[in-house]
Amino acid sequence: MQASASAKIILMGEHAVVYGTPSIAMPITELRAWAEVNPAEQFQIEALDTGQTIRLGGNEPLARLAELSLQALKADVPQVRISLRADIPIASGLGSGAALSTALARAIALACGRDWDVEVLNNVVYQVEKLYHGTPSGVDNTVIVYEKPIWFVRQRPIETLDVGTDFHFVVADTGIPAPTYESVGAVRRLLETKPEYVRPIIDNIGYLTEQARSCLARGEAEELGHRMNANQECLRQLTVSSDELENLIRVARNHGALGAKLSGGGRGGNMLALVFEQDAEKIRLALLSAGARRAFVTRLARTGERKL
Ligand code: PMV
Repeated sequence: MQASASAKIILMGEHAVVYGTPSIAMPITELRAWAEVNPAEQFQIEALDTGQTIRLGGNEPLARLAELSLQALKADVPQVRISLRADIPIASGLGSGAALSTALARAIALACGRDWDVEVLNNVVYQVEKLYHGTPSGVDNTVIVYEKPIWFVRQRPIETLDVGTDFHFVVADTGIPAPTYESVGAVRRLLETKPEYVRPIIDNIGYLTEQARSCLARGEAEELGHRMNANQECLRQLTVSSDELENLIRVARNHGALGAKLSGGGRGGNMLALVFEQDAEKIRLALLSAGARRAFVTRLARTGERKL
């Protein structure tokens, strides 16, 4: 038996979201965390990517996740070994931690013959995200547990989004590690020293993200691409782009991307390009030739809207 969970990426609105404007995050269904269940004498979790074996009662977040899952499912400890692995690069803004937690929780339910209520599962994964990240917004676990694009505004209920057609993206990694807290701190300092410069940029990102929501719902790829490009310009003005990101963004646009921007904290990490399906592989290869450490194609599938 095997369970899985997807990766995630931010489509629009990062950084400004910290100050109350909306953001859009989406699942990356092609990149997944996997949890395989096999009979064993004793319950144990085997983290294949780190070689760690985790048992109940330990301090590891995944041990806590297992305990919270069993409690929430009102199930006895199953006699299984759950082997975890992920295709998702670690610490790159793609939600590898939340995906591993979600896959493990789903595997525990399988092993116990139970079904998760999705909101309960989301809450259990969020509890463990707090152990990893302190005070996370909750967007990572929600987009991953629901595996749907998410509209997220701080301190408001999260909504899933309507997507009118399939959208195709290429994600490329600069290979440059850039801690999110550093770029978030830089934007905060800029806001404190030059509020008259930064406030309108934040408002503009919020406005572009609102428009992007309509583009997604109506299936308007070219219009969405324009919003992504404009969002990138705002992020550059907020000083969170970098030469490497700008290079990959330019290459993607020159090879036919409808729009391209950094994704997540910036100053390194990933960029995201919206592409026509037939151009995706060409653009992926161009990004690799231009120095991307990794590049992959992902599809945001057409879905129906649903309130959480
Ligand atoms: O790098 P990620 O995907 O975890 O995203 C960071 C998003 C920011 O808006 C820059 C920070 C935040 O807490 O929302």
